[in-house]
Amino acid sequence: MSGRGHASAGFGEILAETRILIVCGSGGVGKTTVAAALAAMAAKQGRRVLALTIDPARRLADALGLARSGDEAVPVSLPRGSRGALWARMLDRETALDRLIGRHAPSPERRAEILHNRFYRHVSSTLVGAHEYVAMEELAHLAGQDDHDLLVLDTPPAARALHFLDAPRKIATVLEDPVFRAAVGSFASAGRVSRRGLGVAGLALRAFSRLLGSEMLRETLEFLVAFQEMFDGFKTRARDAARLLEAPGTGFVVVATPHRSSLDDAARLADELGRRDMRLLAAIVNRIHPDPGEPPGDTAELAERLMREGGGQFRSPRELRRLLFQLVENHRRFQGLARAEAALSGQFAERLGRPLFGMPRRTRPVTDVAGLLDLATGLQQR
Ligand SMILES: Nc1ncnc2c1ncn2[C@@H]1O[C@H](COP(=O)(O)OP(=O)(O)O)[C@@H](O)[C@H]1O
Ligand SMILES: [Mg+2]
Repeated sequence: MSGRGHASAGFGEILAETRILIVCGSGGVGKTTVAAALAAMAAKQGRRVLALTIDPARRLADALGLARSGDEAVPVSLPRGSRGALWARMLDRETALDRLIGRHAPSPERRAEILHNRFYRHVSSTLVGAHEYVAMEELAHLAGQDDHDLLVLDTPPAARALHFLDAPRKIATVLEDPVFRAAVGSFASAGRVSRRGLGVAGLALRAFSRLLGSEMLRETLEFLVAFQEMFDGFKTRARDAARLLEAPGTGFVVVATPHRSSLDDAARLADELGRRDMRLLAAIVNRIHPDPGEPPGDTAELAERLMREGGGQFRSPRELRRLLFQLVENHRRFQGLARAEAALSGQFAERLGRPLFGMPRRTRPVTDVAGLLDLATGLQQR
């Protein structure tokens, strides 16, 4: 571990220069918590921030006032002296697609028709990649508005996160293809959307099937037949969303825990981002144990001193020595753990070639914004 910088300084710069910050990592590493903490910190520094969270833990949702908000953005109060503003929103998977249809349907009648369509209801809950795509589109939509300077996006667990990042480009590629459009057109005019129908378009569809997976292709076709008239709008926005992920103001933060397997996952995720020309700004190792430093060296001597100074409370020097011994043993174990974590983090930092920050493990769950800010200010560059 080298060059411990001051906490917030390093990350403060990242937060000041970024327009869209995407937090990714495996399940349970603390993505949602980190996303909220970074958003709170940026808001405290003076930015107008929207934190978009996915499935926040109950207490965190309460802390952000999201428990009963549906998927509206809610203002979050910041401690006094904060210079910016914070809003939080839950990216609700169930309602996100409805919201999108509501926004883009050509008329209110069409909108109602689609939203009540049983087929749509089925597809909207089963379509592979749809939620990811919708989240990306929502992000592009928000990025096109001026309400916030910084959008912090929480993501689903890593395996799905990549799906997430690829969804806009895949969808746009398919929507742009003339063969695909013709196939959907003939599907629609045949008035029939069936599994068998896929045979009709033959080889070309098989190629798409390789790109999307056959289940996803079938479901996408069905979806697209129903939304044919919104094709061009979707195509343009899918391209916008894909471009946004590579835009100069967009950056990624990968979160891991200080365990070998988690750090390996994070390194793989970082590589994947690199291959996709997506900008990794930093990594955060969350729930680290801070190094407690050296324990007292000579417990026998310490025991004697304590006996002299306040020994009345102990039955015997022996009992006191036993207690001290246990304390020192615990201290050593804790120190060993902290050092092992630091060593693993160090290897990870070398492999990563990007700034790495540690976020301390707290013994109590975060229940308010002060707790989030406390986590963020605990960030230490490694
Ligand atoms: N630094 C931390 N210290 C203590 N608990 C934490 C910390 N970060 C996250 N947690 C807890 O770990 C659990 C998982 O965090 P969460 O942010 O929901 O992870 P993810 O979004 O990656 O699934 C939650 O209960 C959260 O309160
Ligand atoms: Mg989460």
